Formats: sequence, structure tokens, C-alpha cells
Amino acid sequence: MMRPLALTGSAMLSYRHAFHAGNHADLLKHITLVLALEHLVQKETPLCYIDTHAGAGRYRLDSAEAQQTGEALRGVAQLDERQAPAVLATWFALLRGVNSGGPQRSYPGSPLWAASLLRPADRLRLFELHPQDRQLLQRQFSRDRRVDVRDQDGFEGLKALLPPPSRRALVLIDPSYEIKSDYSRIPAIVRDAHRRFATGVYMVWYPLLNRPEVSRFTTQLERLRLGPWLRLELRVAGQAGAPGMYGSGMLVLNPPWKLAGQMEAVLPWLQTALGAAGGSWLVRAGD
Ligand SMILES: C[S@@+](CC[C@H](N)C(=O)[O-])C[C@H]1O[C@@H](n2cnc3c(N)ncnc32)[C@H](O)[C@@H]1O
Repeated sequence: MMRPLALTGSAMLSYRHAFHAGNHADLLKHITLVLALEHLVQKETPLCYIDTHAGAGRYRLDSAEAQQTGEALRGVAQLDERQAPAVLATWFALLRGVNSGGPQRSYPGSPLWAASLLRPADRLRLFELHPQDRQLLQRQFSRDRRVDVRDQDGFEGLKALLPPPSRRALVLIDPSYEIKSDYSRIPAIVRDAHRRFATGVYMVWYPLLNRPEVSRFTTQLERLRLGPWLRLELRVAGQAGAPGMYGSGMLVLNPPWKLAGQMEAVLPWLQTALGAAGGSWLVRAGD
């Protein structure tokens, strides 16, 4: 039987973020997201937050999935707020809020980080194809009238949302890269989204893997030439011979101007806090 080349239905999705919630990649992604949103909500005009791959919205750190991998134990559980750079005060306050100030049993997914910072007039448009995760997501936000959860391919759905009515948006593109073609698809998707709405803030998360398609992808992202960009990477292991994901990165198009400086303070601290002795970090900006 021929293997399907493209995602045609949710039945093909096997990735569940519950196994990985709170790991080093989530920390890089969600810290970048929160810092960027903090800047964006300073302006009164409403903001539209679009999450093309939203996940379940919230994760139990004592679930069987989290315990099976132990990724959160090596990730968020290692962080000590008292040692953290001051710019992370809001990030830690939101994390405490999700846990009602008690022991850290829950970890927010990207939609919940965003929803916690956004204001009543702001909007959240969340795409999730996995039926179970979508149900959890819908339940999470059932009383939040700002939120619209969609059972649709986020790559496809993004087009129809741009430009947003308020002409202000942050778009997070955070696929699991289960499908190899995501690497070749995303640069074209970002280009198309930018053509529709050039002033949006676009964030693309990507894994660092010793694979040619990944290095081609990061080079392509840097060369999009669509305006100011910021590339942030956190490597938790040395690259040479690393068999799996040795870190991850975020490409931010139209980044808030203070974000680079903030991440220059955050990334070395994060690398040390995670005990990533063989790791490294990168902050690179361009136009
Ligand atoms: C890495 S997880 C998202 C994590 C989430 N953004 C967070 O930071 O908490 C990727 C999610 O995308 C979903 N997914 C995969 N392909 C999709 C697609 N084409 N459109 C929408 N969702 C998709 C998967 O079911 C999975 O829940």
C-alpha cells in the first residue's frame, strides 16, 4: 500500500503534546510567546492571537504521558524563579496562577499562556486537528467568549483570518513536524501570510535535529527577506552525533524591538538552569 504523502484526516495524527509539555522546547517557545505578547498588549488596539497548531491548552504534569517521558522533570521542574532574570516575572506569575499558587501540577499550552495575557477585546483563533486534544481545548475555553476553536488544518485556516479586523495579530506556527513536508511547506505559508498581512508578528517553532531538511529549513526561513526577523535557539546537547532533538528554535518575523535583548538575558540562564552543560544558545537578528 502506498504511504499517504499529505495529511488528509485527523486519523493520521499520532503526536500528543502531553508527552512533551513543559520540556526545554516548550520553555523556549512559551517564554518567547509571553514576552512578545507582553509588548503587544501595551497598545490599546485589540490583538488577534492565531495558533495554527494549538494542542490541548493545558497539561497535567502528573499524567501517565508526562511521567513516561520525564521531559517536564528535566524541563520546567528545573526552573527556580529566584534565580531567573526579572523579565520572566510575568511568565512565572502565570505559571503559578495556572497552579492556583500550589504545587506545580499543571503546565499551560500556548493558547492558555496567550489567553492569560490577552484582554477582553482581544481574540484567540485556535486550530487543532486531533479530536481528543481539540475536545480538551474546547473544554478549557468553553466559557471564554474571546476564543474560537476550529477543527481545521491550521495551515489552510490561517489564510482566511488575515488580515484580522483590528489589523493587529500574533501568529504562532507550532507543528509537530510529524509530516516531513511541513519543512518545505512552512516558508511558503509564511510568505503567503505576510503577503496578506505584512505587519503581523509571526512565530515559527522548529526542532533542531541532525537532518538535512532541518538545516535547509532554517536557512530558508532566514532568507525569506520579508522584514525584520529574530532567530532564537536553545541547544540542550552538543550537536555532533546527537541522535534525536538536541534543541529547538523560534523564528520571529516582525519581532517586538526589545525581545532580542530580553532573550539574550533569558537563554544563558535557561541553559544553565536546565543543566545543559554541552548546550548553547543563539540570538540572531536580521532584516
Ligand atoms: C506541538 S503540538 C502544539 C503545542 C501547542 N502549540 C503548545 O505550545 O502548547 C502540535 C499540535 O498540532 C496538531 N496538528 C497537527 N497537524 C495539524 C494541522 N495541520 N492543523 C492543526 N493542528 C494540527 C497536533 O494534533 C498537535 O496537537
